[in-house]
Amino acid sequence: MFTLPSLPYDYNALEPIIDAQTVELHYSKHHQGYVNKLNELIADTGFKDRELEEIIKTADGPIFNNASQIWNHTFYRNCLQSPQENNQPTWSLLEAINANRWSFEKFKEVMTASAVGNFWSGRTWLVKNPDGTLEIINTSNAWSPLTLDKKPLLTVDVWEHAYYLKYQNRRVEYVTNRWNIVNRDFVEKELEA
Ligand SMILES: [Fe+2]
Repeated sequence: MFTLPSLPYDYNALEPIIDAQTVELHYSKHHQGYVNKLNELIADTGFKDRELEEIIKTADGPIFNNASQIWNHTFYRNCLQSPQENNQPTWSLLEAINANRWSFEKFKEVMTASAVGNFWSGRTWLVKNPDGTLEIINTSNAWSPLTLDKKPLLTVDVWEHAYYLKYQNRRVEYVTNRWNIVNRDFVEKELEA
């Protein structure tokens, strides 16, 4: 049985960038819903005693979709924190970004454009490849870099339920504002893990 991981901040912690109602619904309805559904789907299968990442890498169909969405939502939440002024990356993250021949501003510009142009319900990710290089990729639906042998470092959630209550169709504004609530310490920890 999987349980919903606790939310690392209050529902209003991301205000005014992401409103409390969106955070609450996203956590208590969407994220909880994926947990409930996965438990129901695996109850009588060989997946019931497996780790979440193992299910993601071996299952398909609804079991994959719900397992992957649990993981994606937990990762997404951990990428965020209360708004920070001048939210610059820490030195080692900046070094990794610069190694890709991006300035920090250029990196934000490329990732923002990728998220704005992500046509599907999905996510835009900063990932680390097995050779250590960084890359920005888009995924759709429940897919994630875990199935592509890429290590996720940061994600931008562009499923509409992540922002529609406050921003409606203004995805550019949502993606742009969201840089102020990136948890740079979490991203750095993932980079070095
Ligand atoms: Fe979601």
